[in-house]
Amino acid sequence: MKALEQFDISGRSALVTGAASGLGLAYAETMAEAGAKVTLTDIDAEGAEREAVRLRELGYEARSARLDVRNREESRAVFEAHVDAYGGLDIAFANAGIDTGPGFWNPGGYRNPDGQVDTLDPARWDRSLSVNLTGMFNTIREAVRIMKAAGCGGSIIATSSNAAMICEAIVDLPYMPAKAGVAHLVRHLALELAEFRIRVNAIAPGPFVTNIGGGALKRDPALRAKWDSQVPLGRVAETYQIKPLALYLASDASSYMTGSQLLIDGGMAQGRFR
Ligand SMILES: NC(=O)c1ccc[n+]([C@@H]2O[C@H](COP(=O)([O-])OP(=O)(O)OC[C@H]3O[C@@H](n4cnc5c(N)ncnc54)[C@H](O)[C@@H]3O)[C@@H](O)[C@H]2O)c1
Repeated sequence: MKALEQFDISGRSALVTGAASGLGLAYAETMAEAGAKVTLTDIDAEGAEREAVRLRELGYEARSARLDVRNREESRAVFEAHVDAYGGLDIAFANAGIDTGPGFWNPGGYRNPDGQVDTLDPARWDRSLSVNLTGMFNTIREAVRIMKAAGCGGSIIATSSNAAMICEAIVDLPYMPAKAGVAHLVRHLALELAEFRIRVNAIAPGPFVTNIGGGALKRDPALRAKWDSQVPLGRVAETYQIKPLALYLASDASSYMTGSQLLIDGGMAQGRFR
């Protein structure tokens, strides 16, 4: 089989969480552009619908649904509605994630008073883990339930982070163990689900310009310059750069891969040289 043919996902269907913005929106666009039917879900229902309408206007098959990934009943209902609308589920992106505030170090060169392990508001820990780790579990659980019942296999892609592998002084403390948890969840589920031909992989991004953390990288040129200088490839990434990797993991092009975590971070996890 030719290489390019293995990337063909036309006629398949995909559901994406956190699809109103950033990387989730790029995943949803990728699915639609490649000919799949896609449900864009987000806690921001209006944003998800706005993007679904935009994709439909471009001639693609897209629908939207409100989904807070912390809510298990809502997750079940949204996945079932996807199957009702599109006749099955081939691909799921467990993507929704949040940053709850600054890390222990401020790029200005001092310790953040409320970013230390002993000063951090524990509510930030609870909120981060509930979205970034438990939310991933809730999403993957519903995708697996449907894929197993259909017996046709499937591809599940979780968004972890290079923060699962390296520690970042300026990043949210609870984000670190949450993303490391996602990485290990993916490895474990790859083992559990291989028998059912359900593949589970992770994309581990470095810094991308999105709305995470209130869109600080879009708003603050000094912060952006600081991040650019930390990346071996010399700059933070734009969301279109994640699209080929999303298609690779979603499609049969990655048919012999499961349990992998693919770094896309401009080399950051390999160390610093500036
Ligand atoms: N941007 C980066 O630099 C970067 C780096 C590594 C990993 N990530 C990960 O990528 C994923 C996407 O983040 P992004 O950067 O695109 O951010 P973003 O803020 O642009 O998009 C995240 C989306 O998730 C939605 N969301 C938030 N809480 C939710 C919830 N409880 N239920 C459902 N939807 C919810 C938001 O409304 C938003 O539309 C996250 O898992 C994030 O941790 C991002």
